[in-house]
Amino acid sequence: MKQRGSGIAITGIGSATPAVALGNHQLSQMVETSDEWISSRTGIKSRHLADVDESLCAIAARASRNALSMAGLRAADLDLIVLATSTPDDLFGSATRIQYDIGATQAVAFDLTAACSGFVFGLVTAAQFIRTGVYRNILLVGADVLSRWVDWDDRATCVLFGDGAGAVVLRATEERDRLLGFELCSDGSQNTCLNLPYQGEARSLVEEVKVSRGTYEPIVMNGREVYRFAVAKVPEVISKAMFRANLCAEEIDWLLLHQANQRILNAVAQRLRIPQEKVISNLAKYGNTSAASIPLALDEAVRGGKVKPGDIIAASGFGAGVSWGAAIFQWGED
Ligand code: ACO
Repeated sequence: MKQRGSGIAITGIGSATPAVALGNHQLSQMVETSDEWISSRTGIKSRHLADVDESLCAIAARASRNALSMAGLRAADLDLIVLATSTPDDLFGSATRIQYDIGATQAVAFDLTAACSGFVFGLVTAAQFIRTGVYRNILLVGADVLSRWVDWDDRATCVLFGDGAGAVVLRATEERDRLLGFELCSDGSQNTCLNLPYQGEARSLVEEVKVSRGTYEPIVMNGREVYRFAVAKVPEVISKAMFRANLCAEEIDWLLLHQANQRILNAVAQRLRIPQEKVISNLAKYGNTSAASIPLALDEAVRGGKVKPGDIIAASGFGAGVSWGAAIFQWGED
């Protein structure tokens, strides 16, 4: 008998990245850039890149197994898998392939696209299924292989992105709800700031009937606009989520932002008056891994003993769309 109106607890986390890493010095042999420029403007030192034959699903499945193992849950016990990604192996969706790969035979699975906000949007989406009593065990995966869509000749973007996956297990709990507050936002008027656009050419089928045939073009970004948007909107959305959680900045244990740029992390922390030692950052190693960046950073912080059960985390994702959002939650079951 399914319980109605449960709270959620986040009981497992895992991550995975491709084995191959590309350092700033190697990038400087490809485009006109330098380790000094990339490090000082972004904080990024290296990024992991999927090999030619390495699928998004394979990386995501590794992260998923790690999260299930920490949660002590069998894949067969999952009710739902949500895959937040903008770079599926298959445009029809890749969540079902992960379902098959990990053996989640009872789970329904679907993709959710919200670029770098995908993990936070996915967390809130998944929580609703638990809160309404529909499902009890959910796997949320954030995974992206942006290296497939980066213009490797464009120094303004190719230095920023990397590949990876992170996953969390959300479970229904009869104790208090660990998702304390959230706020999600979208503004399509800013859509042209950051795109991975479809481009097609006309193909005539019969007289007067034409369709488009094409593919996606590499990422185009107005870096300054995205930077301005992030620094203005992220503190605001976190403040709103904290208000909903009835918490103030001093009560937040960890600030966990989408890992886009260290300067954005620093500016947001400063505006919220959250001290640097509470800011989780691992972008030096991985760059911007889009929907994977928040769970990838959280996994390292949990496994490294930094984040402990009961700690209050303010997480915020932001990016293409444009979309942005924040979720305040407590890690684990204390
Ligand atoms: N190496 C050397 N020089 C470079 C490089 C590079 N890799 N890239 C750009 N430059 C040059 C530019 O050509 C420019 O030169 P100019 O002054 O002669 O024209 C100069 O450096 C300054 O360029 P800006 O774009 O103004 O540099 P800025 O300080 O804004 O830093 C950056 C650029 C790092 C991209 C920054 O704007 C940023 O981080 N923006 C946010 C990006 C972001 O977070 N994107 C992801 C969103 S998440 C998602 O949805 C995927």
